[in-house]
Amino acid sequence: MRKYLTLILAAFAGFAVAEEPSSSLTMEQIPENIAPAYTNPQKDAGNIPTTFPFQPPLVPHSVRGLQVTKNANQCLSCHSPEVSPTTGAPRVPESHFLDRDGKPTEGTSPRRYFCLQCHVQQTDVNPIIQNKFESIRAKQGK
Ligand code: HEC
Ligand code: HEC
Repeated sequence: MRKYLTLILAAFAGFAVAEEPSSSLTMEQIPENIAPAYTNPQKDAGNIPTTFPFQPPLVPHSVRGLQVTKNANQCLSCHSPEVSPTTGAPRVPESHFLDRDGKPTEGTSPRRYFCLQCHVQQTDVNPIIQNKFESIRAKQGK
């Protein structure tokens, strides 16, 4: 019986130790921007046709080194309505300035701030599994 009791106590002690690190991680310790590995970003290809309704358009240029953090959003330095006429980048659409109730926000809506959450860069790599997806437009030969 004693032997079992020691085992059970040891197991509980293990839990206590395992739980500690998560509670002691402060906001300052969380890295703000972990850069993903970039391989062969596609060459600037002009706009890439979308394949399904309401798809966030794919990013047709490299996003290497562009920061989107709580302090800076370098996408907006070309795409914001104020500068897009001079940079030639497509303007961030109206939908990006609405909160979830459809009310206009002053700047880009917080829901649309982290551009790369929805708009993804394309990469020239050989996929491990080939993708046979065909858009409805491709099927109809359009
Ligand atoms: C130096 C200016 C510049 C910066 C910075 C920039 N872009 Fe662009 N972006 C462009 C231009 C110009 C185009 C038009 C297509 C082209 O020539 O590649 C474009 C096209 C796009 C498109 C395609 C829009 C469509 O309708 O198909 C998306 C999406 C996009 N960019 C997202 C981003 C995101 C996300 C970032 C930040 C990570 C970013 N861009 C940063 C200049 C920029
Ligand atoms: C929650 C997902 C989401 C986020 C975050 C987001 N977008 Fe979009 N974006 C979309 C969708 C969906 C569309 C296409 C439909 C629309 O206009 O809303 C779009 C359209 C666009 C277009 C195309 C406009 C056109 O006329 O062709 C640009 C440019 C763009 N977004 C830039 C940005 C930038 C820059 C950011 C970051 C500040 C951003 N988006 C953040 C989902 C998102």
